[in-house]
Amino acid sequence: MKKTEILSMLRESEGYVSGQQICEKFHVSRTAVWKVIEQLKEEGYQIEAVRNRGYRLSESPDILSQAEIESRISTEWAGRNVSYFRETDSTNTQAKRLGEEGAPAGTLAVADRQMAGKGRRGRSWDSPPGRDIYMSLLLRPDIRPSDAPMLTLVMAQSVAEAIREKTGIDARIKWPNDIVAGGKKLCGILTEMSAEMDYINYIVIGVGINVNQPSFPEDIADRATSLMLEAGRSFLRGPLIAAVMERFEDNYSRFLGTNDLSGMREAYNELLVNVGEQVRVLEPGHEYNALSFGINDRGELLVRKEDGSREAVFAGEVSV
Ligand code: BTN
Repeated sequence: MKKTEILSMLRESEGYVSGQQICEKFHVSRTAVWKVIEQLKEEGYQIEAVRNRGYRLSESPDILSQAEIESRISTEWAGRNVSYFRETDSTNTQAKRLGEEGAPAGTLAVADRQMAGKGRRGRSWDSPPGRDIYMSLLLRPDIRPSDAPMLTLVMAQSVAEAIREKTGIDARIKWPNDIVAGGKKLCGILTEMSAEMDYINYIVIGVGINVNQPSFPEDIADRATSLMLEAGRSFLRGPLIAAVMERFEDNYSRFLGTNDLSGMREAYNELLVNVGEQVRVLEPGHEYNALSFGINDRGELLVRKEDGSREAVFAGEVSV
């Protein structure tokens, strides 16, 4: 897409890029270049145009658009094909629709705002415009449906690594797939699957990251936080999305090498909170206190119960 490429060219150049340079590089007319520049301006980019010198990107506002995301992503396949929505019901729903329509693995649905954002266990996910990340990645892995829950942990690890790299925040993982900072939730992940008993049609991994939210309502302020609250400054969403895709592509290829988390387990356990501590295990229909030891190669949480028995917890959550 020319718009994506022209945006990258402007971003990468130190000074002005002449209209002539752009025309020659992409084999397009001056008018075509001018049209793309006008479109970028409409999306909110501040582009200076100076006669005899050319164009210069003067500010990098926190814009989300297909060109913005695609121009930042340097992966081989994850997030290379972006479907951007200024407003939609839920990016998981959109990514599932794309999955049904035959879109390739790595397609990423991104929205600036969700009108019906979904959380886990039938909860909703508050998704106001202009400040957070709502995205869903489409995958078509050739694995058993029973192995699919591990992919949520692959994404959790990738998000935690990307946040650490891009913001310096001490982002950690709360098993199985919440990203937390200082004990408060920064990011939630919702994985959905279309499968037969022994065959996966597609998987959608939805990620919601609280990025530039300046405060939270009183009733959740003790449980929720944002990158802005943790770091005391705002962040651009485009580079963060790109970093998550890069980390995911790497961790996912390691996962596919063994069809389990053995290649990632140590790194995951290093970022896991409450290792070596008492936690409350909330299994479906069953709660108890236990000592947590971290995950095994299948992503199950290894715990020792108060009666001394050991368990590998497959489904559920922990609280402290
Ligand atoms: C959770 O309950 O912790 C999971 C929250 C997942 C939210 C994300 S936002 C992008 C994607 N689209 C949705 O509707 N949900 C996920």
